[in-house]
Amino acid sequence: MKTLVTNIKQLVQVEKTPRRWVAGEEMAKVERLYDAYLVVENGRIAGFGTMNELDKAFYANGEDIREIDVSGRLVLPAFCDSHTHLVYAGSREIEYIDKIKGLSYEEIARRGGGILHSAERIRETTEEQLYAAARERIREIAAQGTGAVEIKSGYGLDLDGELKMLRVVKRLKETTPLTIKATFLGAHAVPAAYKGRQAEYVDLIINEMIPVVAAEELADHVDVFCDRGFFTVEETDRILNAGMKHGLRAKIHANELARSGGVQVGVKYNALSVDHLEHVGPEEIEALLGSETMPTVLPGAAFFLNLPHSPVREMIRAGLPVALASDFNPGSSPSGNMRFILSLGCIHYKMLPEEVIHATTLNTAYAMGVEEELGSIATGKKANFFITKPVPGIEYLPYAYGSDWIETVFLEGEEINENTI
Ligand code: NIG
Ligand code: FE
Repeated sequence: MKTLVTNIKQLVQVEKTPRRWVAGEEMAKVERLYDAYLVVENGRIAGFGTMNELDKAFYANGEDIREIDVSGRLVLPAFCDSHTHLVYAGSREIEYIDKIKGLSYEEIARRGGGILHSAERIRETTEEQLYAAARERIREIAAQGTGAVEIKSGYGLDLDGELKMLRVVKRLKETTPLTIKATFLGAHAVPAAYKGRQAEYVDLIINEMIPVVAAEELADHVDVFCDRGFFTVEETDRILNAGMKHGLRAKIHANELARSGGVQVGVKYNALSVDHLEHVGPEEIEALLGSETMPTVLPGAAFFLNLPHSPVREMIRAGLPVALASDFNPGSSPSGNMRFILSLGCIHYKMLPEEVIHATTLNTAYAMGVEEELGSIATGKKANFFITKPVPGIEYLPYAYGSDWIETVFLEGEEINENTI
């Protein structure tokens, strides 16, 4: 059965010729159709146009068509969230209080809190419990307009724990209508059992973890937290190299805490993305220009940890694309709400509404390797989109930062609700 969405006030982010990403000054332009229709068939976008072009013959052949009139409302492609850690156990609000009292993220990590705290919780949680908690988070972000999400391991920090997390991601892929990519992040922190023996832990990742994860086809990508106090450029180089040999393309955490060299090593391995980027200067921008690596900023983490803001305007002025993802995790960004990310992009990074739309749809689709399937309204792509409540226009979306302006979400052509997700 076909679905025909009619009287769309603005059909946003339409593409006649699909692009891989949008960069530089192009980011300020979002293609829109006013008073438009959209046709969905077999879970895919089958066509779109303006209402006055809608062929009356469309109705004539007696086909069973479900028509949805959305007068006054906008339709946008669902968000792609290309960086999350949403499989986790427990929560870390006690550290949040420590941060309010003045401790930094790095000080908490040095005291054995932070990522190591979440690793302890993973050990005492069954796969079933982990799945149930993650499933609930998937429900929450889908209702907030996210249709595709990348999920990292990295709270296991030993073979069993990492496999447990990645098996949960696999099950989420099989049981939810979202498009999901899995990333192996064994190099998230050095586990307590390897304290003072970081080199041995890196060897374990390379010689034991990556081969098993790849053989069991549990990951699409490999990640390293390449930053001051975590993993060095040399260690990152070795891990990315091993990952690539097993068919895992890199996506790395870089330059959150310092100018770590993470951007350059990511580009060297043709990483799909380098993420965080609070500390970026001319050398990093130079390294990214002409590469196929998507600079990805995580405004929720910078907001939550009070970090300096990534120089997004400089990157766009230099001609780079920029993606914005949520970093949903218990320590530095306990929210996967991409609506809030839109607002933070505008308020803290001085991005325009058009730029944050590209940054959370097509550019994040590229950053998780799904740009041919998602990220824009284009014929043949998956029908993942949302319908807003009646709103004045796209500028209203980041402006109304606390309002729930999404009315309905469609994933693979089907409306989602509590019963379907
Ligand atoms: O992306 N920076 C490293 N990793 C995560 C935080 C993980 C945690 O604190 O649990 C991040 O912010
Ligand atoms: Fe992260």
